Amino acid sequence: MRHLARKQRFTVSAEALSLFIGWSNVTLQRLGTCTHWAVGIDGRSYQTDQWYNLSSNITASISRRLHVQKDHPISITRAIIESRFPGPTYKYYNNFFPVVSTQQNFDSLGFPTDHPGRSKTDTYYVNRETVLRTHTSAHQADVFRANESEGFLISADVYRRDAIDRSHYPIFHQMEGARVWDRTKVPNGDIAAAVLKDLEALPTHSMKVQDPNPPTHPERNPLQKEHSQAEAQAIAAHLKRSLELVVVEIFSRAKAAAISANPDFVDEPLKVRWIEAYFPFTSPSWELEIFWQGDWLEVLGCGVVKQDIMEKAGLPQQLGWAFGVGLERIAMLLFEIPDIRLFWSKDERFLGQFSGLSENLDSLRRFVPFSKYPACYKDVAFWLRSSSSSAGGGSRANSQDFHENDVMEIVRDIGGDLVEDVSKVDEFAHPKTGRKSLCYRINYRSLERTLTNEEANGYHDQVRKALVEKLGVELR
Ligand code: DAH
Repeated sequence: MRHLARKQRFTVSAEALSLFIGWSNVTLQRLGTCTHWAVGIDGRSYQTDQWYNLSSNITASISRRLHVQKDHPISITRAIIESRFPGPTYKYYNNFFPVVSTQQNFDSLGFPTDHPGRSKTDTYYVNRETVLRTHTSAHQADVFRANESEGFLISADVYRRDAIDRSHYPIFHQMEGARVWDRTKVPNGDIAAAVLKDLEALPTHSMKVQDPNPPTHPERNPLQKEHSQAEAQAIAAHLKRSLELVVVEIFSRAKAAAISANPDFVDEPLKVRWIEAYFPFTSPSWELEIFWQGDWLEVLGCGVVKQDIMEKAGLPQQLGWAFGVGLERIAMLLFEIPDIRLFWSKDERFLGQFSGLSENLDSLRRFVPFSKYPACYKDVAFWLRSSSSSAGGGSRANSQDFHENDVMEIVRDIGGDLVEDVSKVDEFAHPKTGRKSLCYRINYRSLERTLTNEEANGYHDQVRKALVEKLGVELR
């Protein structure tokens, strides 16, 4: 975030910074005359540098760990998926710390150095080499190296700078899963046969699955040179069945919940499809989509683990599959939760609806929305600086270095969970000067009460000021 990068030009006292950050779990120390400070994140101290772009809303939420809070819908969703991957084959890791190195988050997985995911506009940086993990895959290589089981599940909070709407939040939760087989341990070293035997032991299901593509494709979804076609095919089949069974599990529980609320409930037949995909750390790779309320909804990514990752983990003789699934999206389907901000609510009208469920996953109930409060739309229109006038204003937004995520971050910093949605409603270039104008519409709406117009105006004025101060835009 540009405005935070700019702050380091000043030497600021620890007290002033603590006040600025304003949260008890963030502690800052001034280090002599150094213009960079150390930041405490959930009890650990990190040296920042010009890459630092965390905001107070984010650091304050790090300690929440929704995926392990008893009776929280994210935690319930995690437990339901875990039930499809039983121990001791699968070992669960639910307490990995969210601050990781760029090596773990990107390099260990083969992300190229110019991958857009590495940019400061997309990722929260503590310093040049340290980030808030953007996905649970950040821990894959370490868990493979530890080699404690044939399979594992890692559930954790992940962080991304992103749009603001009812299905995007800068913190969400993922579950990473993996299963490997060892050439030196399976009978006759025959991986394909061992995998197919394990596949046979899995239940079958009657869900409709579209899977039109061949298991591998020389250009679009290549077989790895270390694997035989039979091995990749068997691993893909085991992976796909395992994940289809997760979908069946989730939806049969959702259906049971719907029927308990309404005995006449009739659902549409469940439909899923496998799509070819690309990830730097798997090949071949797929995404799974679920047909839900008239649309195909992407729910997870997966594939055959790149052998290079196993080799670097010291396990060249092992091969297998991995997947990553977003827990919010699944929980929203499972409980019919309409807005992702609700997961962060401490309101009993939300949390109370899930009490006792962690202990009894068979008694799921659908979420019953409490009143929907009125929306309050406010627009903000501004000119970006023209690219030629950016000299000396390196931290300012001109048409080239402007990124929408910086607007999102500013709005979120000020409005927090009172902002439901931010969308661009207009964009044009001045016909003579070429200067660009943008207009964003912000919907201020609390999930818990009616916001007064004055209150929304107060936030909106702050947003307008911050856009000028931090991005250097000119309001229209
Ligand atoms: N890390 C990916 C993401 O966040 C998801 C993913 C895809 C994880 C494929 C995997 C995988 O383990 O094999 O989008």
